[in-house]
Amino acid sequence: MKPNVVLYKTIPADQLARLQAAFNLTRFDSITDANRQEVIAALRHAQGLIGASHPIGNELLDAAPGLRAISTISVGYDQFSVPELTRRGITLMHTPGVLTETTADTIFTLILTSARRAVELAELVKRGEWRRSIGEEYYGTDVNGKTIGILGMGRIGYAVAKRAHLGFGMPVMYYNDKVNEQAESLLHARRATLDQVLAEADFVCVVLPLLPETEKLIGYAEISKMKPGAILINGSRGKIINEPELIRALQDGVIRGAGLDVFEQEPLPATSPLLALPNVVALPHIGSATHETRHAMVACAVDNLIAALAGDVTQNCVNPGALRNVAATGNEFKGM
Ligand code: DGY
Repeated sequence: MKPNVVLYKTIPADQLARLQAAFNLTRFDSITDANRQEVIAALRHAQGLIGASHPIGNELLDAAPGLRAISTISVGYDQFSVPELTRRGITLMHTPGVLTETTADTIFTLILTSARRAVELAELVKRGEWRRSIGEEYYGTDVNGKTIGILGMGRIGYAVAKRAHLGFGMPVMYYNDKVNEQAESLLHARRATLDQVLAEADFVCVVLPLLPETEKLIGYAEISKMKPGAILINGSRGKIINEPELIRALQDGVIRGAGLDVFEQEPLPATSPLLALPNVVALPHIGSATHETRHAMVACAVDNLIAALAGDVTQNCVNPGALRNVAATGNEFKGM
């Protein structure tokens, strides 16, 4: 008997076909107020769940007493309570690795466009306002040779550091709970305290996961420790920065600017004061959004779900310990 699986995202046809071949699949494009009851009904007999970009809280989990594995089509898993899933014996799979280089490209796009004011000046050209040689009032600041400070030296942090050091000759500092040997030996990266990175870096890049201990890590006080000419970049999760305090700091001219791919609330409301600030580059959470990478993420998530429902959580599992709780919850499925 094939396991029952609920899909809550639109995915490419080839990956949909793989899910349909492996599982009894119930499909939704997303979870909305309008279809929530239908999703709840489908979850009642589900062993697997796959999708992205929607919080999966207790109401949905309570509706799925036989759920064994969730596969999120993302590297971040802040839409879930991992301890709660572990307690229920549900394994959570995610997609690290396949999006590392693309997300680092996006972060570097933010560094370059913020420093060189590329978005602001491209808009000026499109408005037909380029009437003479650009003067000092529109000059940017150099990226090459400047110091980059990376908050979070995991896979993506390392990929950013590699671009910065090898491509742009930038000295690399980083703030991380542990030493990254590879970054230190190959990129001469220097591990430092948060305060040291804030004080010395010309570009401070947030590449940390959102956890209780990183939520609102950067507020007005931290931004005030940065150099007045420095630029803050966020390519991980909006809630790591206290957004109202960032807005206030930018309005007060505490730093040169910010490049942001992520926000406290997404989509960013059209009324956000961030949108009125010329020194802010705002992207619509496109870290991994290329054809190639989004396809690779879906394929990885499908592989992960097939493996997890066959009892294999050796790769890409956030909470392999959940398997120990399966017997306790009776949440077992013997299929495939
Ligand atoms: C991820 O994979 O976590 C990206 O931020 C998309 O949500």
